[in-house]
Amino acid sequence: MSSSAWWRSAVVYQIYPRSFADASGDGVGDLVGIRHHLDHLEQLGVDVVWLSPIYRSPMDDNGYDISDYQDIDPLFGTLEDFDELLADVHRRGMKLLMDLVVNHTSDEHPWFVESRSSTDNPKRDWYWWRPARQGGVPGEAGAEPNNWGSFFSGPAWEYDEVTGEYYLHLFSRKQPDLNWENPEVREAVYTMMRWWLDRGVDGFRMDVINLISKDTSLPDGEVRAGEEYGGLGRSVVDGPRVHEFLAEMHREVFGPLDRDLLLVGETPGATVEEARKYTDPRRREIDMVFQFEHVQVDRGASKWDVLPFDMRVLRHVLDRWQQGLADVGWNSLYWDNHDQPRVVSRFGDDGEHRVESAKLLATVLHLQRGTPYIYQGDELGMTNFPFSSIEQFDDLESVNYFHEAVGHGQDPAEVLARLRAMSRDNARTPMQWDDSTHAGFTDATPWLPVNPNHREINAAGQVGVAGSVFEHHRRLTALRHAEPAVVEGDFTLLLPNHEQLFVFTRCHEQTELVVIANFSGQPADLPGVLLDRCAGAELLVGERTEPTMQPWESRVHRRQLPAGD
Ligand code: NOJ
Repeated sequence: MSSSAWWRSAVVYQIYPRSFADASGDGVGDLVGIRHHLDHLEQLGVDVVWLSPIYRSPMDDNGYDISDYQDIDPLFGTLEDFDELLADVHRRGMKLLMDLVVNHTSDEHPWFVESRSSTDNPKRDWYWWRPARQGGVPGEAGAEPNNWGSFFSGPAWEYDEVTGEYYLHLFSRKQPDLNWENPEVREAVYTMMRWWLDRGVDGFRMDVINLISKDTSLPDGEVRAGEEYGGLGRSVVDGPRVHEFLAEMHREVFGPLDRDLLLVGETPGATVEEARKYTDPRRREIDMVFQFEHVQVDRGASKWDVLPFDMRVLRHVLDRWQQGLADVGWNSLYWDNHDQPRVVSRFGDDGEHRVESAKLLATVLHLQRGTPYIYQGDELGMTNFPFSSIEQFDDLESVNYFHEAVGHGQDPAEVLARLRAMSRDNARTPMQWDDSTHAGFTDATPWLPVNPNHREINAAGQVGVAGSVFEHHRRLTALRHAEPAVVEGDFTLLLPNHEQLFVFTRCHEQTELVVIANFSGQPADLPGVLLDRCAGAELLVGERTEPTMQPWESRVHRRQLPAGD
């Protein structure tokens, strides 16, 4: 754990290394490529760099399937490249977070290779092995130990002929789940974490960390109408021993260190109540959650059931998290990451008002209470990719879903439309550095196509250019560093029922920040109460003070409250 809460005033930048910058000329981003672009991060003013996984991996899930936790995949470089990158990041006054993927390993990890080799080998119990369910014929459909479906389509169990049993995988069949009930597993993970901390890293973003404790009876889940498999959420999300495991990890790994670390837990499905527990400093578990409720406001039964975006629902969810963690706990603030479509296409307007809506989204994000995350390309207002065929996709979640849905008789054009809106590959197209053929990402053929709009949307056209999305992000990052009300202020939602305006204040000591965002393509008149409130206030972010907000316009005012208020 950190010896101070330095991360409350920090801004994190997430790099998806495959798609950031290719220095080796193979069409895939790498560590040397990242080093070449550290100026960009320094100019943006971010404090922390989080690297999506760079460990040795068969790349079934682009590195979230790790076969060696203590080596770098040759695609990305070497341990020496890593050390040089870390030293450069530190030299520039930034910190570096590693992705920590320990809910599961790759099926090619030596632990699993050993585990699958026999029922009585010492690592058998490191994973979740179970026989076929009673009466089932091992290996036949329906004989799986329970009815859970995996997050990536198909059953969550894979039959293994070597020993005639099944292993559990919440994600792909190449990502077997580790059995955290076994103390040897936990100790092996802690040892590996200490090794990276000794190497100098500044903390971890812990992948799906709230799924590590399962209900050990592994009960069938409820099968919802129209679904083939049972839900596993109740048995694995915020499971029975998860807080105990995190407290133990803290004691064993971070407790003895007196360093300014950052421990971020990715916690899909976590409730506000659980988030308070994870991040209550007195419990000494993690520093902040990375939860998902606000990026699920436009989905129905599953992520592929796409609903129209309604700002009022988003505002309600964000407000609830702000209130819920107001006195205890801390949240990560993000719109995008490598698992989400691009926010300007999703909650903004990636056509006529792309620049304004990208800035508005940035303003609303950075001005909340919590730690903001900029995902590579957010700072440029990068958009979704105009996918037109399934062959253009790489992501296994998207490709598996397409085949499953079409296999069940759904119209391929409709399924493709859902992928175009929601696929993770939208976030994974190469970073747009300039307007050259491959956007300055590579000289070779990029592993995923570059968005054709890189001719207009790219870093070279924005860094140092007044009015750009990049300069807007830079301003917001600087504001967090300079203005205590951004970090510590209380959050209060105003005009909670307004159809277009998302308005809130942040209040700290005698300073009040008033954030006004017109979440629509239509002008919006500011109500008199707001005009009165902002009369004479300083305009910190934005260009205009007129009583009518332009489409997608956002502003931040600062005013001093009279003593005693
Ligand atoms: C969450 C990661 O963000 C995602 O990219 C990955 O596929 C799953 N966890 C499985 O590791």
